Amino acid sequence: MPLTPRAGTGMLSYDERTVWAIVESGVETDQQQRDSVGSATQLTLLPRSAAGGSSGARQARPFVKWAGGKRRLLPAIMAAAPPTFTRYMEPFVGGGAVALAVGCLPLLLNDANAELMHAFRTVRDDLGPLLALLDEHRAHHAEAYFYALRSADPTALDPVAQAARFVYLNKTCFNGLYRVNKQGQFNTPFGRYKNPTLYDRENMQRVAQLLEGAELHTGDYRAFLAANARPGDFIYLDPPYIPVSQYSDFKRYTKEQFREDDQRELARIFDELVALGAYPVLSNSYTALTLELYQQHDLRTVEAARNINHDGARRGPIREVIVRPKRRAIFKPAPIIRDAAAQRQMAQFPSSRYMGSKHAILPFLHDVLHDLEFTTALDAFSGSGAVSYLLKTMGKAVVTNDFLTFCYHTANACIVNSQDKLSVGEVNTLLAAHPAPSDFISRTFGGLYFTDDENRFLDNLTAQIREMACARKQSIAFAALSRACLRRRPRGLFTYTGVRYDDGRRDLKVSLEQHFREAVECFNAAVFDNGQPHTALNGDVFALPADLRPDLVYFDPPYVSPHSDNDYTRRYHFVEGLARNWQGLEILEHTTTKKFRRLPSLFDSKRTIHQAFRTLFARFRDATIVVSYSSNGIPTKDELAGLLREYKREVVIHEFDHRYSFGTHNHKVGNNQNLVKEYLFVGK
Ligand SMILES: C[S@@+](CC[C@H](N)C(=O)[O-])C[C@H]1O[C@@H](n2cnc3c(N)ncnc32)[C@H](O)[C@@H]1O
Repeated sequence: MPLTPRAGTGMLSYDERTVWAIVESGVETDQQQRDSVGSATQLTLLPRSAAGGSSGARQARPFVKWAGGKRRLLPAIMAAAPPTFTRYMEPFVGGGAVALAVGCLPLLLNDANAELMHAFRTVRDDLGPLLALLDEHRAHHAEAYFYALRSADPTALDPVAQAARFVYLNKTCFNGLYRVNKQGQFNTPFGRYKNPTLYDRENMQRVAQLLEGAELHTGDYRAFLAANARPGDFIYLDPPYIPVSQYSDFKRYTKEQFREDDQRELARIFDELVALGAYPVLSNSYTALTLELYQQHDLRTVEAARNINHDGARRGPIREVIVRPKRRAIFKPAPIIRDAAAQRQMAQFPSSRYMGSKHAILPFLHDVLHDLEFTTALDAFSGSGAVSYLLKTMGKAVVTNDFLTFCYHTANACIVNSQDKLSVGEVNTLLAAHPAPSDFISRTFGGLYFTDDENRFLDNLTAQIREMACARKQSIAFAALSRACLRRRPRGLFTYTGVRYDDGRRDLKVSLEQHFREAVECFNAAVFDNGQPHTALNGDVFALPADLRPDLVYFDPPYVSPHSDNDYTRRYHFVEGLARNWQGLEILEHTTTKKFRRLPSLFDSKRTIHQAFRTLFARFRDATIVVSYSSNGIPTKDELAGLLREYKREVVIHEFDHRYSFGTHNHKVGNNQNLVKEYLFVGK
């Protein structure tokens, strides 16, 4: 039986002249947040005339033609926007018509198409050189020139030339349709435009200005949302549409296809975003599947004229559906890193699903740390490195420590390292055949986590990495290798063997080699210099050098929890083994997972944890001590405050309501056990 939209069916007329404006208002958050993060800014979207602005103002428009571009759907999308929101986010940004029209900060944009996102970054960071190259392309424009440039390998071009090639091909190819073949090569034919315009300078400047404070991400929308979505976000989802006819081919924006299963998964994610307290708005084609997938939400049908269709005669209006949550979600304004430069730099951090990572609460941490006076800081349990990276973005001199070696490499790669990057040539050398690779991984882990080919790949690559001369580049390679292996595993874990939980997501389909290449890019992008010296240590927290005397020390030890173990080696033994070449580690041969014997830590057990805290507090009693802990940990909040007061005169406790980051515990979303309070103890 065909389904019909249940609510709000109607046509909205398109008025190109409407200019949208954002009105800001400072609103008080709820009591707990007021205590900890003060007030947040809420944003309201209004047509500019209603917002009191000049209706003559021009808003930024896309600088590329993009299949499925949303300019004509703007009024309907704007009408579906939430009344207020804290940040605007777009995981399938494409040409960015909606994002540019919303035009507010904080703005977080993502697309799986790396060339497209690279073009966005180039417009933001290198507009002058980009326009100069586009002028050159315009001067040479001809069919032969188009095909010559099309056949050039974009990765061999310098970054600005790569972006210029992309914009030129986009503006001159047939119907502006970005399409790639199975090898990921752009393959749309020449467009036969007599007088193509490659750019509008004023518009480019408006776009560049708007992107100035935006976070630009490249990758899978799920990873992007898992790492970034927060309560209070307005998230516009414009996925590859469900085909209405056999000719529709909108899914071919990138090498990866978007099939029915992907649409179903996206609908689940839409629900999870609503449960999280975010406000997703989605558009898709008017099909039975769309209506079925989103039947519990508010659906609105609109007609939009399509520019791109396989045959000119079929360019009539197309019916589309706009989905928004049925009840306007109750917004919890989410804290943001208020310093725009810090927020932008943090966007370059290769965040991960590392157990206990503080990535999701960095804005809260930033607010607390921002008010403390210090120049040097020790992140004593650095884990994923997220907090160290925040400290670096805040201009501090950072010492990181973790007893896991793969964590050390992450810190060495993006905290200590301020300039070294791995070039494509160096990556290719690492991937070339080693004359005498070991077969240790193939022998020991055959049939457990990866295919035989992949195990041979790992034996070879690790042999190559171990021979690298530059320690910081070697750390980028090890960090990228760990990231590749973790992404290639369902749920990023080595606690089980085989491919359980394979939900068909992209990360599980992409080869280890491709993951490695992508991870190197992420780490390269994260490298920056804050002008301070940094150090990465790799040892037990009780064996730190005696002369280490930071102004501030941050402790984020593993939580001892009555609900779950905190065994890092059980989860990550394989990548830790890779980083250490299993030297000095005792593999427990009787275990199915071939994990190694757990590294002893006084933070493992409720019997030793109180003493462990005392020892650390005594050791760093001269520093400002900041401790992260959670409401479901042992010791309790009061016990921990008592311990800290033994060494510090003034102890302040900041509280933060933390819902586990979306995506990591998503089976629990909507369940109250998810609501854990994060504490930050500050002892001065
Ligand atoms: C909660 S995690 C830290 C997370 C980190 N703040 C982040 O944002 O990713 C705790 C870390 O402590 C490390 N660890 C546990 N016991 C340790 C010890 N005795 N010495 C040094 N590091 C230890 C673990 O390897 C783990 O990475």
